Amino acid sequence: MKITVIGTGYLGTTHAACMAELGFEVLGLDILPERVEALSAGRVPMYEPGLEALLRKHLVGQPGSTGRLRFTSSWAEVGAFGDVHFVCVNTPQRRGEFACDMSYVESAFDLLAPHLQRSAEQPPALVVGKSTVPVGSAERLAERLAERVPAGARVEVAWNPEFLREGFAVNDTLNPDRLVVGVRSEQAEAVLREVYAGLLERGTPMVVTDFPTAELVKTAANSFLATKISFINAMAEVCEASGADVVQLSGALAYDARIGGKFLNAGLGFGGGCLPKDIRAFMARAGELGADQALTFLREVDSINMRRRSRMVELAREQCGGGFLGRRIAVLGAAFKPDSDDVRDSPALNVAGQIQLQGGQVTVFDPKAVDNARKLFPSLGYADSVLEAAEGAHVVLHLTEWQEFREMDPHALAEVVSERRILDGRNVLDPQRWRAAGWTYRALGRPS
Ligand code: UGA
Repeated sequence: MKITVIGTGYLGTTHAACMAELGFEVLGLDILPERVEALSAGRVPMYEPGLEALLRKHLVGQPGSTGRLRFTSSWAEVGAFGDVHFVCVNTPQRRGEFACDMSYVESAFDLLAPHLQRSAEQPPALVVGKSTVPVGSAERLAERLAERVPAGARVEVAWNPEFLREGFAVNDTLNPDRLVVGVRSEQAEAVLREVYAGLLERGTPMVVTDFPTAELVKTAANSFLATKISFINAMAEVCEASGADVVQLSGALAYDARIGGKFLNAGLGFGGGCLPKDIRAFMARAGELGADQALTFLREVDSINMRRRSRMVELAREQCGGGFLGRRIAVLGAAFKPDSDDVRDSPALNVAGQIQLQGGQVTVFDPKAVDNARKLFPSLGYADSVLEAAEGAHVVLHLTEWQEFREMDPHALAEVVSERRILDGRNVLDPQRWRAAGWTYRALGRPS
């Protein structure tokens, strides 16, 4: 069985390399020639631990590689090569709206369709959607595909949402908690069982269901995770008002196995290319379906999340004596989370941008995301190290919890700052250690 992967962002590149790792011949496609060129040369154009090594392990032409993986921008080549085509293009939020922008997915299906030539002896080609889409899309896309394939071509659609996290993408793909496949025939199920045979043998559960349920599992999962984060951040607001400590509170809640401690870290809240846009697209879709009341709570989840950013700006302003003018602010972190260089809807950059607009002199440092941050916010100051960012700072804001920041030495930092004030936006620094070194330590949802 030969596999193609359409779209080589975080999801597609990881999926392509992991399919080669599972033993398949894989052809990846991207419409961006520079993306195809970089991947063909063994370079992953984003920071994702372990991904570049896996790419090189299988990429054709690399010394000692299996040669099972290559990339192209030719749809004809992809159509002729693949038995199974995974569609992994992105589905961003539509500009100025909550709804999901389906244009990349639609265009991928449309461009692939004319090339799905299958002879009568071959099994139907299987086009498998992995992108996160509004419920109802798979059915619509299957009809759209059927209208566009050459006369007599045999093709089927399946939906197989992806649950990988950035920063853990390779491991999450090769060791998923579960596989979910939405299918319309036993044949499609059998093909996907063959694709994932290696994972199924290891006991990975597979949920086989219909299209809408498969699509909904993904949006429901991300909505639940977002809700859990906003729940604890709402508790942080109550903690601040009452003098309680949200870190102790979440630690105590976590002992209850029914609640669990994962995604219960209070702080600056969620960002990135998935959770924020997925809950909004879900609300928009529910509205179209006449079920908007069911998801009004997600609007609150979104508001709580966005309030965290304003609250951090407020706290920083207080620490600067009531205004940012003439004040230097060091921002540690630009990525939306550690072990990633992704700055899409990054809470850290959002705070940095707001402070700068209010007159602060902001200098940002991030171990991997400075280049991407500079493209998005060229007017912010950037540094090459923590110490350089903190030079002369009136307040230091810790906004993305990279290991390097968790291990910072408060004494070394004290040497370069103008005032020893630190705001921990991720609640991971040890307050006692910082206070013992003479710092004013403040965090969201913790007593001052
Ligand atoms: C998320 C989901 O976790 C994946 O399962 C899903 O496949 C992916 O979206 C997607 O839809 O493609 P990701 O966006 O990589 O993955 O990031 P998460 O690890 O979920 O973190 C999201 C945000 O929540 C980050 O900004 C993080 O800092 C924040 N967060 C996470 C908290 O504020 N508190 C927590 O306790 C956990």
